[in-house]
Amino acid sequence: MDALRIRSTGKPLEGTVRISGAKNAALPILCATLLSDGASHLRNVPRLRDIETTAALLRFLGRDVRVDAPEVHVAAGAEVRPEAPYELVKQMRASVLVLGPLVARFGRAKVSLPGGCAIGARPVDQHLKGLEALGCSIRLERGYVIAEGPNNGGRLRGAEVMFDVPTVGGTENLMMAAALAKGRSTLVNCAREPEVEELARVLNKMGAEVSGAGTDVIHVTGADRGELSPFEHAIIPDRIEAGTYMVAAAMLEGGNVLVQGAKLSDLEALVMKMRAAGIEVTSEGQDIRVRRFGELRAVNVTTAPHPGFPTDMQAQFLSLMVMARGESVISETIFENRFMHVPELQRMGASVALRGNTAVVQGVRRLYGASVMATDLRASASLVIAGAVADEETEVRRIYHLDRGYERIEQKLLGLGVNVERVRGAES
Ligand code: EPU
Repeated sequence: MDALRIRSTGKPLEGTVRISGAKNAALPILCATLLSDGASHLRNVPRLRDIETTAALLRFLGRDVRVDAPEVHVAAGAEVRPEAPYELVKQMRASVLVLGPLVARFGRAKVSLPGGCAIGARPVDQHLKGLEALGCSIRLERGYVIAEGPNNGGRLRGAEVMFDVPTVGGTENLMMAAALAKGRSTLVNCAREPEVEELARVLNKMGAEVSGAGTDVIHVTGADRGELSPFEHAIIPDRIEAGTYMVAAAMLEGGNVLVQGAKLSDLEALVMKMRAAGIEVTSEGQDIRVRRFGELRAVNVTTAPHPGFPTDMQAQFLSLMVMARGESVISETIFENRFMHVPELQRMGASVALRGNTAVVQGVRRLYGASVMATDLRASASLVIAGAVADEETEVRRIYHLDRGYERIEQKLLGLGVNVERVRGAES
């Protein structure tokens, strides 16, 4: 397995980094192409393993997909097979996002249950409950969800759906299903993430009527025909990739990085916490500049659904707090097992005490290089930014997680002055 080897330069990050398209926006939008048989064209799609996995899944379902990142073309193939096998779903849980579009468009779907992953159990009960409200019959059989429209595969009907927890994937699955249901649906207690708003923009381009995305109540009026129209769309920039480089920029005094194409309005919670820690974050046209002049102050963070502090930035922010003066309390409320970076950071000299869903970080203001590895995407990112400022040499192993979510990470870090190289087939 590949590793990233990072050697200390002793210097803060400086330079410019361009942000790629958002993985978590591109994945549901690729699934939305199932709602139409025409040829859809996506632009600004990041070159990532999860995009390839989604393309493979769409091909398995019978679509004709051409990935030439940052462009992706999807069209109908000869025949549709509304079935997502375990082999593909286990590689990427977001595959469950084909369930809503498949059952809405073809009247039936058989999709493997994703199961848990490194960061938590991650059930999909809210997706299933919502589809049932739209008239689906759902049964679970040998690890698969089998969903059927009313009366043996008929058209779904608009309904009221109340989510018990705001779920990003659940909201997206239901929006896509409701976009082809008969009549109007009201989704309550929805996730408000920018990626949900982005999917709503695409569904509106496709001919559905979606309003309220970005708030906790979304109304969807299904298109009055069996399918939606094809679309062309450029994906929004990846706010979590942007946030990761912003935090990396602030790890050492003197850091000065222009993060190109990042939207400050999607990153408000992070920006406020960074400013509270003493970091300068400013808008420069379409870009964000991050500068650190003096010492970092410790600040507390609790993750929450958007617009709260994103769970996908918790690991990276914890690495930052290791470099601060004082004690920082970091609470994770979204996933039950998202502190796997902590034991690895401890091996690099961090002082962190874990108590349930809370990490108490005593800033040590320096890190030592070590061999480390992580078992999920954002935890891996936190180790890379720690390695970028640690002394001597850090090897971050098992970086296939990083390749799922960070496009050309070593080239982008090199551009910021980090001495980094990819070691092919390193010991895992
Ligand atoms: N939940 C349920 N039941 C459900 C669905 C969710 O109890 O049916 C719970 C989850 O267990 C979790 C909470 O609701 O405690 C929120 O989960 P959500 O459904 O919002 O997460 P997701 O849609 O599976 C997306 C991102 C994640 C990100 C979370 C939270 C994609 C493809 N993935 O996951 O991204 O952490 O929202 O913001 O959009 C990542 O990019 O590294 C990543 C893990």
